[in-house]
Amino acid sequence: MDRGLHQQTMETRLPGRSGSLQTLTRMACLALCLATLTTPVFSQAILEGERFHPASAHNGMVATSHTLATEVALKVLKDGGNAVDAAVTAGFALAVTQPRSGNIGGGGFMLISKGDGSAPEAIDYREKAPSAATETMYQDESGNVIQNRSRFTHLAAGVPGTVAGLAMALERHGTLSLKQALAPAIELAREGFIVPQRFSEGLEQARERLQRWPATQATFYKKDGSAWKAGERFRQPELATTLQRIADEGVKGFYQGETAQLIVEEMERHGGLITRQDLIDYQPIVRAPVHGNYRGYDIYSMSPPSSGGAHIVQILNILEGFPIRELGHNSADTIHYMAEAMKLAYADRSEYLGDTDYVDVPLKGLTSKPYAEQLRQGIKQDKARPASDIRPGQPPGYESPETTHFSVVDKWGNAVSNTYTINFSYGSGITVEGAGFLLNNEMDDFSAKPGVPNAYGLIGGEANKVEPGKRMLSSMSPTIVRKDNRNFLVTGSPGGSRIITTTLQVIMNVIDHDMNIQTAVNAPRIHHQWLPDQIRIEQGVSTDTVRLLEGRGHKVVTNSAMGAIQSIMIGEDGTLYGGADPRRSTSSAMGY
Ligand code: DON
Repeated sequence: MDRGLHQQTMETRLPGRSGSLQTLTRMACLALCLATLTTPVFSQAILEGERFHPASAHNGMVATSHTLATEVALKVLKDGGNAVDAAVTAGFALAVTQPRSGNIGGGGFMLISKGDGSAPEAIDYREKAPSAATETMYQDESGNVIQNRSRFTHLAAGVPGTVAGLAMALERHGTLSLKQALAPAIELAREGFIVPQRFSEGLEQARERLQRWPATQATFYKKDGSAWKAGERFRQPELATTLQRIADEGVKGFYQGETAQLIVEEMERHGGLITRQDLIDYQPIVRAPVHGNYRGYDIYSMSPPSSGGAHIVQILNILEGFPIRELGHNSADTIHYMAEAMKLAYADRSEYLGDTDYVDVPLKGLTSKPYAEQLRQGIKQDKARPASDIRPGQPPGYESPETTHFSVVDKWGNAVSNTYTINFSYGSGITVEGAGFLLNNEMDDFSAKPGVPNAYGLIGGEANKVEPGKRMLSSMSPTIVRKDNRNFLVTGSPGGSRIITTTLQVIMNVIDHDMNIQTAVNAPRIHHQWLPDQIRIEQGVSTDTVRLLEGRGHKVVTNSAMGAIQSIMIGEDGTLYGGADPRRSTSSAMGY
């Protein structure tokens, strides 16, 4: 793609004339150029921004949802480490500075795409159901779902994968030792850090849920029960010791020995299911990412047990048949087509997606162009299809057989896109006594009963039922876009069911709407997930547009901020542009 060439082309077409004639000629040429351009070209303004300026640098860029994590990861790059070293360091640091979503008690996915053009790989460190888990464990005797059981009890926790996943990434691609990657996190936990406003507000909001558990109260609140205030120093000595055990003993320092013992005792005291053997058995898995192509760009995103990659590619495939660029960003037409495509994808998600180690997922069919073409035929230009008219489609042939995201690019062009989570803000709210970290409530991402929605309103079926040792379906979508075999865009977001659509829109904002990365990240977003049958919009979509959508039969509701996408774009000349999401006040992108 001709990024960076537009201005140059205009200048070279205008040899030395002077004064107003030159100005007029320039204007005429500009109008002509704009009118006749069928193939988009990208100006420097698009890369660097006129509306919202991205961070820019040449040797390395980190975008995370917490400045302190960004800083320690950037230091790794400056000291000669690569993107994986920096990502793992950020991952452990966020587990300290952002306990509501950064985690060692949860799991996630890391996508790695090297600068040498070799095939990208995904590390799946999603939590697993304990071996004693059963299909009906969240139902009462009459088969009704007991909602809180999969959310706020010890039964809500899957076997954590983060420590094993980050260690595996480092072992396969890093140059630092685990001890080195953990050092900044241990220091932040031991010496403490100054609490930002958002940290304090989060603890206030979750007070009732968190203070039910004495270890959570003791870890995250002051002795008198009040939350740490902005500007105060917050220390986590127990977490520092837990992290130190990993630094000293490696992965075994978490999955065996003292920390494992503390987790198992926590489970035994409260009727949880995770056993010593479950912890010993936990293994991250190297997977091939889902691969698609959108308007000439290669899209790599997370494969099952995430639904993210499959549906980002599926929605893009459907939308490729519409002239999105001409229809314009967040116009009624564009939002209409996006919503119609999203509905179809989320309907398929409910039926087909699950852990491929347990169920067959028709991934090839779902992400194929002919299937998208077939789905596109059913989309009307002037009328919303009610969700009740939509059923999961028939993708061809089964193949034989509060989350946080960060993105890193180093000076060799290596890119890492990582999303990990403990599910809700503060996960289950349960802190492992003596170990100082929160347990996830990821089991709620399984379908507690076919057809009963989870906390994000997502419906799941047989493919995502609870089974021992199975990974619960996710929407997390760490994504890397390549152009001509070079890393181009590194992106991903939290946001539960909205992760897929958030990530999708940043990709489209860049590819279809020529936005620089910061503008693409900031732009108001929309979301449809089939059920409930409504388009959710952020503030900033015009009232006229909403009226036009309603006129086509859409129900439109205004939602609070959706997602917190941390992205990096790489210019043709290798310049790195960072776009941190202002929806999270602590987000930052920094380069050097
Ligand atoms: O894996 C998933 O799809 C969810 N557990 C993610 C949760 C999430 O993004 C919450 N963050 N805001």
